[in-house]
Amino acid sequence: MALRFGLIGLGKHGMQAVSPAFFDPACTGGALVAVCDVNPAATAAFARPVEAKYNDHRRMLAEAGLDAVYIAAGMDHHYRLATDALRAGKHVIVEKPMAATLDECREMTDLAQASGLTLAVNFETRYSEQNEILRRWIREGRFGEIDALHFTNMWDGHKSFGPIQQRRARLMELAGALDCGIHKLDQARFLVGGVWADVFARGAWMGEDFTPPTHIGIVGQLDNGVLVTLNASLSWAAHIDPRPMVNTMEIAGTEGVAICRSSRDFRNMTMELFSRTLCETHELRPTGHTSDIVLVVNEFAEVVAHGRTADTILASGEDGYWAQYATEQANGQAIRGRIRREP
Ligand SMILES: NC(=O)c1ccc[n+]([C@@H]2O[C@H](COP(=O)([O-])OP(=O)(O)OC[C@H]3O[C@@H](n4cnc5c(N)ncnc54)[C@H](O)[C@@H]3O)[C@@H](O)[C@H]2O)c1
Repeated sequence: MALRFGLIGLGKHGMQAVSPAFFDPACTGGALVAVCDVNPAATAAFARPVEAKYNDHRRMLAEAGLDAVYIAAGMDHHYRLATDALRAGKHVIVEKPMAATLDECREMTDLAQASGLTLAVNFETRYSEQNEILRRWIREGRFGEIDALHFTNMWDGHKSFGPIQQRRARLMELAGALDCGIHKLDQARFLVGGVWADVFARGAWMGEDFTPPTHIGIVGQLDNGVLVTLNASLSWAAHIDPRPMVNTMEIAGTEGVAICRSSRDFRNMTMELFSRTLCETHELRPTGHTSDIVLVVNEFAEVVAHGRTADTILASGEDGYWAQYATEQANGQAIRGRIRREP
């Protein structure tokens, strides 16, 4: 039976990506029965059929008869909203980044565990066809021992001018380039396991005045020895009109390698895989937020009902914690190591 969900946060993502997922016929795991936003204009603008709308999440938790909440407010609100929901006995899906600090992430995971409730983080790109193919290659042993993963994730962060520059500024001040790059930090662990042993980073600010770097280079190592590099940027091409985005990944293994490249508009991806035993090329059409969130909600309902298995894709609170660990280490190092240019 579908879980009764309340959605907290009707901003761009809640309105355009998360709420439509619940009204997709393929979404059998959850039914959206209530929505909440502190901004009355946002709840008033919410036109889909729900039983009730709220401007105070505590009222929604007390009155709406929910099994679970989906939190799509900004990351600086995630901790309070998630801990209130867990204390009210609700299962939680929280958007990435899981919370503003590592301590908050730990408290959230501890509370969920102590309450016997499911806490998941929306790392929806785990469900991509790219990952499905890479995981098949890993299962079949075609890479041999994977020694290194290299990512580039540079796009224009909604532009530094135009209608959503305020929203861009909000998310940039919270996590900088890693607001989006965090998906890759999670993808590394999702593919090869382990936890972060070491994270080194330096940043660039591209003429902007945010605390975390808007453009960052990371060299990390997982405790299973795998080297991970990531170039992430939300200021890449953000100050000009063209949108030449870059999304690439390479896997280096002792017996095989993979080269993945998105087209400049992110609409297509070419994957080339080479090993001793097989070579393959795939042309993919990546799916959008909404269809991936349908998969997240459906698997979340399975996990609530039956627990996690070795095949579970859904990111746990622990996964959210480790993504935040790498983010916090990288942003902290980049900020401390910043060399300001002479004016
Ligand atoms: N998974 C993804 O790929 C992906 C993509 C985009 C955004 N996100 C995440 O989704 C979250 C929301 O992003 P957004 O771009 O929609 O932000 P946004 O700023 O556009 O919207 C946030 C909304 O939350 C509301 N809000 C804030 N505090 C609240 C509270 N206490 N109770 C109820 N509502 C509250 C705000 O009024 C606003 O309407 C962020 O964590 C972001 O990182 C994830």
